[in-house]
Amino acid sequence: MLRPTLLEIFEHPKTQKYIQRSGVVHAIASSYHAFKLAHQIGVDPVLACKAALLHDIGHYTWYRDGEWDYEQYKANDIHAIKGAERAHKILIELGESRESAKEISLAILLHTDSYLPQGSLHLSPLQKVVKLADEADEEPNGMHHYRKISLEKAVEQVKNLDEKLLTTQHQKTFQQTS
Ligand SMILES: [Fe+2]
Repeated sequence: MLRPTLLEIFEHPKTQKYIQRSGVVHAIASSYHAFKLAHQIGVDPVLACKAALLHDIGHYTWYRDGEWDYEQYKANDIHAIKGAERAHKILIELGESRESAKEISLAILLHTDSYLPQGSLHLSPLQKVVKLADEADEEPNGMHHYRKISLEKAVEQVKNLDEKLLTTQHQKTFQQTS
């Protein structure tokens, strides 16, 4: 069962509010990367796509005198913590199971170690997929957060990914029953 779909998650008012700050294009591109990586690494593509779509919704921009202040951002950023919490709330509101909501949130929490004291994280395969999906779409100087897309185009791309996930699920069900 795919519900909530990526489109339902994408169109939730809170998602729309937060996803603009870090860029819709980056969110959707990461979700597509997660779809591919999930198959390569062997994790649930539905969880991976949802986590990748929402992975940066904890971001807010750091400006000083109208200019992006990277130093200030680096020192104070906790976007993964905020994003995990926001995503959990959105998913539960949309009827996601508590188990899946937790898995998705944890993958968002751990998609970067930028806010953690030094030390290496031991990531689960799902958490690794979301981290790699994010990195696959990154551009120097955070430019991946600034690419633009129309809402119509974004909805079309999210719907297309929902279709791919559904097809994958049907194939899996068919393999299990044949
Ligand atoms: Fe990101």
